[in-house]
Amino acid sequence: MTDDEFKLFRDLIHKECGIFLHDGKKDFLRARVEKRLNALDMKSFFQYYRHINDNNRDELCIFIDSVTIHETSFFRNTPQFQMFREKVLPEITERKRKLRDYSLNIWSAGCATGEEPYSIAIDVSETVPDASLWNIKIIASDISLRCLDSASKGVYPRDKLKDVPEKYIAKCFRQVGEYYEVKDSIKKLVVFDYHNIMHENGLANMDAIFFRNVMIYFDIEEQKKIIARLLRALNPEGYLFLGHAETLQGISNGDLRFLYWNKGTAYQKVNKHE
Ligand SMILES: C[S@@+](CC[C@H](N)C(=O)[O-])C[C@H]1O[C@@H](n2cnc3c(N)ncnc32)[C@H](O)[C@@H]1O
Repeated sequence: MTDDEFKLFRDLIHKECGIFLHDGKKDFLRARVEKRLNALDMKSFFQYYRHINDNNRDELCIFIDSVTIHETSFFRNTPQFQMFREKVLPEITERKRKLRDYSLNIWSAGCATGEEPYSIAIDVSETVPDASLWNIKIIASDISLRCLDSASKGVYPRDKLKDVPEKYIAKCFRQVGEYYEVKDSIKKLVVFDYHNIMHENGLANMDAIFFRNVMIYFDIEEQKKIIARLLRALNPEGYLFLGHAETLQGISNGDLRFLYWNKGTAYQKVNKHE
């Protein structure tokens, strides 16, 4: 792959999904494109570039899928989930109960293969005392169709469940041969949705948004636009969870306050009427 070809693909990826690959990622990109060249029996990088640019949306989806990182796990970042369960959920539900508003809306943006939204669903159903009275909706979105397909099946090998507390494994999963399937009582709380985080999707009234380990792949200008959009989707006093290596320093201008609780971190939308 020549430097010019690398730039062509890099610009295409940036335009389509906001991810910016710096020069050090050339070998990574070449390996991913080569895989597709072999699968399609194509001879040159430029031929493939023309192929995906020729209004070939299906191949473009496969290509974007192949250059995005889908690493995830159940209850990833334990202190953050502890904070969610022990501080955030009780605070949201207590506040909403007083208003007789029994809706709970949570968005997992960049949900990969589903471990994050299912962890949220397990925590909500297992720790909100009157969970059955609530109208719970966990929206889980991603740009990767392959991930969404696997996420909606909700079937995982045993080693993927290593951070799921034993009592939840028995209660929330069903063993199917060597695999474990998320039970319908948990699955029904989660709605999977294809969505490119660079675009508006009209979601509003969110009580919490998990946008973890996605922002790092975007440049600062794109990060600012995405955070502004997520902020609009959040309810006043709603919570935003980012990955442990991600921060809003230099991105948000005081609409979100940083919270630190027992080693867990989150941001809370400032209520302008306070
Ligand atoms: C590293 S995973 C993070 C998964 C999960 N949030 C976690 O923290 O474990 C990043 C996910 O973001 C998705 N992603 C990347 N760019 C995206 C975009 N523009 N719109 C929506 N999802 C995107 C990828 O497909 C991938 O599944």
